[in-house]
Amino acid sequence: MHPITARTQLSPNVTRLDVEARRIAEIRQAGQFVIVRRANGAERIPLTIADADPARGTITLVIQAVGKSTRELVALEAGDAIQDISGPLGHPTEMIAAGRALCVGGGVGTAVVHPIAQGLHQRGVEVISIIGGRSREWVIFEEELRRLGQVMVCTDDGSYGRKGFVTDAARDVLAAGGVDIVYAVGPVPMMRAVANLTRPFGVHTIVSLNPVMVDGTGMCGGCRVDVGGQTKFACVEGPEFDGHLVDFDMLAERLGTYREFEEMASAACETGACRSELMPPSQLPAIPS
Ligand code: NAD
Ligand code: FES
Repeated sequence: MHPITARTQLSPNVTRLDVEARRIAEIRQAGQFVIVRRANGAERIPLTIADADPARGTITLVIQAVGKSTRELVALEAGDAIQDISGPLGHPTEMIAAGRALCVGGGVGTAVVHPIAQGLHQRGVEVISIIGGRSREWVIFEEELRRLGQVMVCTDDGSYGRKGFVTDAARDVLAAGGVDIVYAVGPVPMMRAVANLTRPFGVHTIVSLNPVMVDGTGMCGGCRVDVGGQTKFACVEGPEFDGHLVDFDMLAERLGTYREFEEMASAACETGACRSELMPPSQLPAIPS
């Protein structure tokens, strides 16, 4: 069992949980993730390790409550416990050793950008972060990123920082020159837009993908993505890939496979019924091959 030591509401549907996981806190590297299972029979949820405190033996998980399982997870309080946490999983972030990095975080993806910026800063790389949210209350990890370098905030409605998408600010920074690498994490349309933006500038761009994951060990094929015409399993070969080579259309399509069932489970959750009563796993559709 992994006791929760702190719970913080970061934005209307994004929650930070600091959780005891001593070994993971000691060995995790930027870009790696864990798979958590709240209790017996609960869904397995992949979550990036947003931060870690080896002295306290805790890791920081940032969860967007979008469905039944994530809502159950964020309903936990400090003092409650998560049953299983597997990890650290995935390849650590490919870091440059010197120069200037532009880190672009959209919404909850900003929590994934944080450990990347942290790792770069520790190596002496200059970090510029551009982070965005729908409006002021959706902007997260601003203070933490300001400790690591310059931060530009964008909001879709202009309620805080610059009005517009993160790509608007990124375009200006790229045009000014001097950016050696771009890291982008957020919704699929955002990562696709950042990759399209950096391509003509010839700046290497790394994105962190969030496909459906089940086992996290390369066995089930759920996290299959297409990168440069090759099949990759994000859990063991990612989750970070060259954004200029990712097939974002396929990623978006596969992410939508279970949307209908997720919506049914969410609706049922509100009335007290659980997903297994609605749809036995054997009747769920196979992820398209
Ligand atoms: P959101 O939809 O509120 O967007 C956040 C910001 O991203 C916006 O404010 C804007 O600046 C930028 N953005 C969005 N669409 C854009 C576009 N078409 N072009 C340019 N910029 C754009 O984000 P959210 O609700 O916080 O994010 C939810 C999504 O992020 C979910 O789909 C979730 O699966 C995904 N996610 C991805 C990762 C990952 O590792 N890639 C991690 C967590 C969540
Ligand atoms: Fe099963 Fe990656 S989650 S192969």
